[in-house]
Amino acid sequence: MVKRPKIAIVGAGGNVGAAVAQWAAIKDLGDLVLIDIKPQPAEGRALDLTQAGAWEGFSNVGFVATDKMDAMAGADVVVMTAGVPRKPGQSREELININAGIVKSICGEVKKHAPDSVLIVVSNPLDAMVFVAKQVTGFPRERVIGSAGVLDSARFRSYLAQAAGVSIEDVQAIVLGAHTDKDMVPIVSTAMIGNVPVGKVLAAEKINEVVENTKKGGATLTGLIGTSAWLAPGSGTCLMVEAIVRNQGRVLPCSIELRGEFGVKDAFVGVPVKLSSKGAEKVYEFELSASEKEAFTKSVAANVELMNIARGFLG
Ligand code: 2OP
Repeated sequence: MVKRPKIAIVGAGGNVGAAVAQWAAIKDLGDLVLIDIKPQPAEGRALDLTQAGAWEGFSNVGFVATDKMDAMAGADVVVMTAGVPRKPGQSREELININAGIVKSICGEVKKHAPDSVLIVVSNPLDAMVFVAKQVTGFPRERVIGSAGVLDSARFRSYLAQAAGVSIEDVQAIVLGAHTDKDMVPIVSTAMIGNVPVGKVLAAEKINEVVENTKKGGATLTGLIGTSAWLAPGSGTCLMVEAIVRNQGRVLPCSIELRGEFGVKDAFVGVPVKLSSKGAEKVYEFELSASEKEAFTKSVAANVELMNIARGFLG
């Protein structure tokens, strides 16, 4: 019998979890299990999604919604969106005291019920939460992956496309480093517009503006909406789920444990990764410009500081 992939989304009563479910249902990626410590919001999200199936033609209308963690048993992919989102004016780093405990306790359940899954962490502060997930599950690094670079890169590409007045389809650009406003690293040296280096298309001043808008992209949305964004975060995360369940070998920026790549050991930040059914199969290294190298090093140092705070919750 051919088995459909099983995708468990923890924190599915919240906006980001629900958005992951929505994109996954549209792409028909597999059987979805919506888990939340509060059963009613998860049930509501599942019901809402089920009813959208009338017009969207979902082949799966049996979305499971529950507060029982064992519902993730046998999942191929677990998406962890649990935790509190940031409020206007708040940094992602400030969420560590609340979210580290939540992520720790749910990762214990992932280890118990879905020991062979690929775990995608979305909770903030992202890179430190990937560290917590890796420590608690003890999964190989290939199977503990943070979703943030896909989102930050999407924001970078969209600001570049707007600045150049071109289709986003023809903008290639990635953001590496930590998923924080001050320490993410939009990579200008490899950014391309229609295969032309971005420096040949946009003035340096414009590029700087794009970089700054990208870095504060999440804060801008939080200020506008009153809570953190969910459509683009959900879409980027779903792209990662798709790459895994369809064994696509996509190369996407993801946060994982570095083991010497980019000259870094034992820290968690975003780097280009090949995503397949094995998870983060391979890290792609390349030469950064001098200023990018400096920013990347700063980013790693900031993550190590957060990791050390997170360590306090692991005991
Ligand atoms: C963002 O940047 C939720 O951290 C996420 O919007």
